[in-house]
Order: sequence, then C-alpha cells, then structure tokens
Amino acid sequence: EEKQDLKGKNILITAGPTREPIDPVRYITNHSSGKMGYAIAERAAKRGANVVLISGPTNLDKPKGVEFISVENANDMYNEVTNRFKWANIIIKSAAVADYKPKDVSDKKIKKSNDELAIALERNYDILKELGRMNEDNNKTLIGFAAETNDLIENAKSKLNKKNVDMIVANDLTKKGAGFKKDTNIVTILERNGNITEYGEMKKIDLADIILDKGNEISKGRL
Ligand code: PMT
Repeated sequence: EEKQDLKGKNILITAGPTREPIDPVRYITNHSSGKMGYAIAERAAKRGANVVLISGPTNLDKPKGVEFISVENANDMYNEVTNRFKWANIIIKSAAVADYKPKDVSDKKIKKSNDELAIALERNYDILKELGRMNEDNNKTLIGFAAETNDLIENAKSKLNKKNVDMIVANDLTKKGAGFKKDTNIVTILERNGNITEYGEMKKIDLADIILDKGNEISKGRL
C-alpha cells in the first residue's frame, strides 16, 4: 500500500524536449527522452497528488492517473504551463526547453544550394524565469533543473537566484549514469535556504521520490 502523502496537492510537471520548427520537415531539438519528468509524474500520482504532465514529444507511455498535455515547441509549453499556474501548488520543470527558435519558419521546404546557409535564431521565453516572476508572493513551490556540462554548482546557483525558484536539481551531463536518456541520474540539489545535497547514482524513479519529498516539505505552510 502506497502512502498517499501528496493527496490534495496539485502538481504540474513538464518533461521531454521541445521541437522548434525550421520548415515543414525540419526542427531543432535536444536529447531529452522525458524519462526524468515521467518518473516524477508517475510517483506523484501514485502518492495521491493531482498531476498534470505537460510533455514535449517522447516515445514513452503516459503515466497512469495523470492528466496529459502534449506540446511541440517552447511557446506551446509556455502557454500550457502559464494556464495551469494558478491551479498548481508545486511546479517541477524537468523539460529540456529550447532557449532559441528559428526567427522565420519557412512554410515551404528549404531547398539546398551550393551556398552556405545560416538560420537566424531568436530567444524563446524562459518559462521557469517567467514562473519565478509570477510567483512574487511565493505561494507556489517552484522546482527547476539545471543541465550542465561545466561549473555545475556555480551555474545551478545562478539559476536558483535568477529564476527565483525554491530548488534546483543539477545534473552533470558529462557523468556516466547522469542526464539524458538513461534510467539513472546523478544530481546535486540546491535549495533557496542554502542547503546543498549531493546524491550518488540512483534510478530516476527513486530520485523522483526525493524531489517530491523536498517539494512537499517546502510547500507545507503555503497555499
Ligand atoms: O528527459 P531525460 O532523457 O530523462 O533527461 C533528463 C534531463 C537531463 C532533461 C533533466 O534531468 C534535466 O536536466 N532537465 C532540464 C534540462 C534543461 O533545459 O536545463 P537548463 O539548465 O537548460 O534549464 C534550466 C531550467 O530552466 C530547467 O528547469 C528548464 O526546464 C527551464 N527552462 C529552460 C529554458 C527555457 N527556455 N525555459 C525553461 O523553463
């Protein structure tokens, strides 16, 4: 029997990559499989939470007992997440969102020629940062990730502060057993209160419970 310690909590989770279209046949994306975010959604639902999972394109089965919203690009994800902001008590942003998108999306397939081709990119919204802004009164518990290849702690600290979030789960993508596509992760969790905790390699499904425990603790006493 699973303990229902998240009963009554509304938890919004994002997962997977985004796809930023170039033309009708091509897009820019990243290596996220969705495994980390789906693991969190699965555990949150099993522990009794009301779960909305907003996911970019993945090959995974939808976790049972969650409301599933499928999105393609960062802009769609931004719209769906901000729509659900009011509803949520805890928001966990494990999606790997593209920071840039092609400035002009060609409505016809771009033809090759012998010339070099440059694609101009423009910034997407930083969704987590926008949520941090919307959360001025700190009623919501905001949890972000940091996917880094260098200066893990320094970069994660800067994300914690700049994005005004409660907690950052930092994974070092250069470590075997961490990051994209794997069933395991190796993370350091940084909290707003200054706590920094390092974890060894563990299954994403077990890390999901740790993230939910901490999120639940932080959200107690808030609306
Ligand atoms: O999906 P898997 O294959 O299981 O891999 C898991 C993972 C490596 C994708 C996951 O553990 C992870 O690190 N997710 C966050 C990836 C990421 O985009 O990190 P970032 O450091 O670029 O972004 C920091 C935070 O801001 C993230 O919470 C991200 O969701 C958010 N963000 C980033 C850019 C943007 N435009 N909007 C955002 O909200």
